[in-house]
Amino acid sequence: MKSPFGIALAGLFSTTAYACESCEHPERDVVLTRNVRRMQPDAQNASSLPRAPLSWGQVNFLHTTDTHGWLEGHIKEKNYGADWGDFVTFVRDMRRKADALDVDLLVVDTGDLHDGAGLSDATSPNGELSNPIFENINYDVLTIGNHELYVSAITYEHFYNFSRHYGDRYLTSNVQVYNPNTSTYEYIGKTHRYFSTPKGIRIMSFGVLYDFTGNSNASKVIPAAEMVNQTWFQDALHTHEPIDMFLLIGHNPVRPSVSTSTLDTVFNAIRAVHPNVPIQIFGGHTHIRDFAVYDDKTTALESGRYCETLGWLSMSGLNSSTYTGCANPAGVTNPTMPAIKVNGSSTATGNFTTSNTTSNLLYSRRYLDWNRLTFEYHAAGSQVSTFDSSKGLNVTSNITTTRNELNLTSLYGCAPQTWCITCAPFLSNGSIYTILTKALSATIVNDTRADISRLIVLNTGSVRFDLVKGPFTYDDSFIVSPFTDGFQYIPDVPYDLAVQVLPALDAGPYEKRSVSPALSRRDFGFYNPSIPEQDDCFDPPSTHAQGSLSKRSPGRIVRRETTVTPGYTTTDDFGTDGDDTIHSAIPDYTVPDNFQANASFPTNGTLPDTVDLIFLDYIATDVLTALSGAGASYTIDDVSYYLPNSFTTNSYLPAYAKQAADWQADVPNCPVGLGVGYNDTATA
Ligand SMILES: *[C@@H]1O[C@H](CO)[C@@H](O)[C@H](O)[C@H]1NC(C)=O
Ligand SMILES: *[C@@H]1O[C@H](CO)[C@@H](O)[C@H](O)[C@H]1NC(C)=O
Ligand SMILES: *[C@@H]1O[C@H](CO)[C@@H](O)[C@H](O)[C@H]1NC(C)=O
Ligand SMILES: *[C@@H]1O[C@H](CO)[C@@H](O)[C@H](O)[C@H]1NC(C)=O
Ligand SMILES: *[C@@H]1O[C@H](CO)[C@@H](O)[C@H](O)[C@H]1NC(C)=O
Ligand SMILES: *[C@@H]1O[C@H](CO)[C@@H](O)[C@H](O)[C@H]1NC(C)=O
Ligand SMILES: *[C@@H]1O[C@H](CO)[C@@H](O)[C@H](O)[C@H]1NC(C)=O
Ligand SMILES: *[C@@H]1O[C@H](CO)[C@@H](O)[C@H](O)[C@H]1NC(C)=O
Ligand SMILES: *[C@@H]1O[C@H](CO)[C@@H](O)[C@H](O)[C@H]1NC(C)=O
Ligand SMILES: *[C@@H]1O[C@H](CO)[C@@H](O)[C@H](O)[C@H]1NC(C)=O
Ligand SMILES: *[C@@H]1O[C@H](CO)[C@@H](O)[C@H](O)[C@H]1NC(C)=O
Ligand SMILES: *[C@@H]1O[C@H](CO)[C@@H](O)[C@H](O)[C@H]1NC(C)=O
Repeated sequence: MKSPFGIALAGLFSTTAYACESCEHPERDVVLTRNVRRMQPDAQNASSLPRAPLSWGQVNFLHTTDTHGWLEGHIKEKNYGADWGDFVTFVRDMRRKADALDVDLLVVDTGDLHDGAGLSDATSPNGELSNPIFENINYDVLTIGNHELYVSAITYEHFYNFSRHYGDRYLTSNVQVYNPNTSTYEYIGKTHRYFSTPKGIRIMSFGVLYDFTGNSNASKVIPAAEMVNQTWFQDALHTHEPIDMFLLIGHNPVRPSVSTSTLDTVFNAIRAVHPNVPIQIFGGHTHIRDFAVYDDKTTALESGRYCETLGWLSMSGLNSSTYTGCANPAGVTNPTMPAIKVNGSSTATGNFTTSNTTSNLLYSRRYLDWNRLTFEYHAAGSQVSTFDSSKGLNVTSNITTTRNELNLTSLYGCAPQTWCITCAPFLSNGSIYTILTKALSATIVNDTRADISRLIVLNTGSVRFDLVKGPFTYDDSFIVSPFTDGFQYIPDVPYDLAVQVLPALDAGPYEKRSVSPALSRRDFGFYNPSIPEQDDCFDPPSTHAQGSLSKRSPGRIVRRETTVTPGYTTTDDFGTDGDDTIHSAIPDYTVPDNFQANASFPTNGTLPDTVDLIFLDYIATDVLTALSGAGASYTIDDVSYYLPNSFTTNSYLPAYAKQAADWQADVPNCPVGLGVGYNDTATA
């Protein structure tokens, strides 16, 4: 078997051939040791190198999705420390590399640009400052996400500004906005794009959002089944222009078994007219790394979330009479995988009309960790002497300046450890609900009722991201608990009744935001009634053996690189070798829909007779239903705000950070951990 490792293109690429770890190869030390450090000022360096260079084919793709405002990168997580400026440089380098190899490189994004971090969420509308920063990437095609449609002001920002920036490259095949000038619904971007790549591949492209229904009335989402019947779509399929490949992108799960995905509908509609034209799909929305084989000429890549993952796909064997580039670029590995599921008996993942001629197409896919080490490693050989570019540095410093101007770095306290949503058992030491319970007990206090025992019930979906060891800033208040729900209560509820509320809420289909807490963690921050429970999509189980990593590391770097760090371990239709950096698995525990804190309980160990029952305002009617199920007869007249409604789910963690002694001890020099999944005790 041909080794996929080892490239040496004298005179063109710097050497990144792999060496026996015991040998000294000073000439191989070049790539990673001389960098001026960029990223955001406080970000950390990654230590785990990619497993091997990327395979390059005829046409290659870089894919981002569900960036949700994380353009600063993950400042407290070493595996994801690069920022958007580093990515700008990386894209430039990879485009140069594609030129040098005489092949095509297309850069694709599949939506959801805000709701996740302060850079996007501290402005009104969200994204006002982060979108212009995002626009520094010259994407070839992009498409809209559901988070662009909840709030009309954001939708209009995309209509008036974002779509104008990208012009015919912004594809919103089934999303329209009401244009007050013309009193009609118009497409926010374009319905489709027919174009030729620099090397002459003729592509027809669509951008299709899943059948989302939680949008504001400023926009209209046309269901995929309806869209494929529309005249413009049928005209695009029946165009007389030759089509070498369809490029179907969408804020849309790539796994056809996920019921919200409508990519299969579009796929079938294309196949009905073009049974044998390759279709390349890029999707998103479920925040996972995934790769699905649809038929022997169609694969679909989903590239994670939150600037943790950069997707790579390369393919060769495409039939195109106008392609002028190289079929199999030399000096690099080339794609080797036909579009066949490695574990499956058939190629089809879903209920598809499959192609009926043989395929010469070969693919490779890779999920890159979003850090400088990864970027520098893969950019090496792009004929640049140092990684940074002036544009990338400009974007990096723009992010720093913007973060400062928005006060995002303003420090409340130091999170003394990492608490995560699913990486530790619910309510164990490492569980975020453990610290939130403590924080709620300490901060949800009405002075006039401070001595009265209270139960505070929250839904677990009110948390959006893990709380990572290190500075807890204004930015983190958006990252961890961004929603602004107020605290209401019913006074003096008999304890025996009050304790029945939590289990009743967990059992019943009551709360909006708890429809699917796991999914809400992975995406939503908003109530979305269109998402049924079964759409939750977890990372496939880890089957990764940790293997002999050291043999795969180039040059001297190997001596710094002795441990496998915690991170993504993905299984997809091509198997388990998709993750660019080999990681140990981070556990994934389930979390119930709700959790509960108590405070001012009797100190002698007895239970109170009555309590103040406190809950988030938007579930008041659910709580009343739960109480009535327990035999009580409270009404909405019994409900009032326990604290001013300006004190919200976004307020209590900052308040706690400012008052907890262990959070204040190290201010302003907070010790920083390594990120989610790391044992900070062991690594401190
Ligand atoms: C990251 O790496 C650069 C260059 O190798 C080094 O100068 C810098 O100090 C490192 N930063 C941290 C936080 O270790
Ligand atoms: C579009 O951008 C301009 C300037 O960049 C800004 O003033 C305006 O508010 C934006 N429009 C919308 C609808 O957000
Ligand atoms: C609506 O009309 C105003 C004023 O003429 C113009 O500035 C704006 O660009 C128009 N908007 C669209 C979407 O055409
Ligand atoms: C689309 O057209 C097909 C064939 O004419 C028809 O069977 C189907 O019901 C139509 N679907 C929608 C959603 O209009
Ligand atoms: C495939 O689609 C057909 C027609 O829509 C349907 O009758 C059949 O049940 C589907 N099969 C599977 C396995 O989903
Ligand atoms: C493939 O399918 C198309 C449309 O269903 C049909 O017209 C064509 O004859 C088939 N080709 C082969 C080789 O079976
Ligand atoms: C950041 O870049 C955007 C887009 O180029 C620009 O509008 C904005 O003024 C810049 N901000 C800073 C602080 O440089
Ligand atoms: C980025 O470059 C532009 C000009 O290209 C300049 O006006 C701007 O000040 C620079 N921004 C930063 C933050 O360096
Ligand atoms: C940032 O904080 C400073 C000092 O506390 C304050 O003057 C300024 O108004 C704040 N800016 C924003 C955008 O909140
Ligand atoms: C325990 O404390 C509560 C209130 O603090 C009091 O009402 C109760 O009588 C005490 N019970 C015992 C057994 O001391
Ligand atoms: C505390 O509760 C009382 C009684 O419900 C209410 O009048 C008061 O406004 C609350 N205090 C605060 C700070 O919300
Ligand atoms: C973390 O590491 C410390 C020190 O090695 C160890 O005592 C502790 O059990 C570890 N915690 C977990 C959750 O593995």
